[in-house]
Amino acid sequence: MKNLTLIEHPLIKRDITILRDRDTPDPVFRVVLKRIAMILAAEVSRDLRLKSLNVKTPLERTSGHALAQDVVIVPVLRAGLGLLEGFLDVIPEARVGHIGIYRNEQTLQPVDYYSKFPRGLRKSVVMLLDPMLATGGSGSAALSFLKEKGARAIRFVTLLAAPEGVRLITRNHPDIPIFTTVLDRRLNNRGYILPGLGDAGDRIFGTD
Ligand code: PRP
Ligand code: URA
Repeated sequence: MKNLTLIEHPLIKRDITILRDRDTPDPVFRVVLKRIAMILAAEVSRDLRLKSLNVKTPLERTSGHALAQDVVIVPVLRAGLGLLEGFLDVIPEARVGHIGIYRNEQTLQPVDYYSKFPRGLRKSVVMLLDPMLATGGSGSAALSFLKEKGARAIRFVTLLAAPEGVRLITRNHPDIPIFTTVLDRRLNNRGYILPGLGDAGDRIFGTD
């Protein structure tokens, strides 16, 4: 799994445990997800290029930095929205695209229903957000879609990944780095990640 980067951090490990807990109420789930998203955003941005600029402090002139690369954040609707705000807090200059995809619960095949992207994807660093990488069908479809729209430098950011999903993305999109915080054990026969955290979209939005 050479395309996979595990982002390990004590604060993330604590927070993942809160998210896994079935008794965590939805409002707490959302807050904790945002908190993890902020750490993830910092970690997946480590290699962004900088340009130099000058600023005046209250005392004197000094040199500093600004991001040299355009960043586009693309949450996969719905659950990716749970990560968006944390990413935007840390990278406020980013632009945002959206992809709507859900899994057909019987076939587990991805169904896409919406997309809207900012211009100039080809030159942007695109961060595709989805907390759950299960079979990999949704992520793989989202990546194909982004590539069709011209995106090149894409990184796929997830929270929990199943080995099955990582394998599918690696096979279909060997050029795409995947970031996750935990590689879980496997999928159950309904395509849910074990031990997982359940249905991320339902827990963020209070649906079932
Ligand atoms: C969840 C999740 C991923 C997908 C992962 O979305 O947010 O998009 O499942 O599963 P896969 O790797 O097997 O494709 P879901 O289909 O539940 O839609 P929702 O976010 O609208 O609830
Ligand atoms: N989607 C989820 O939200 N959870 C899973 O465990 C699998 C897919």
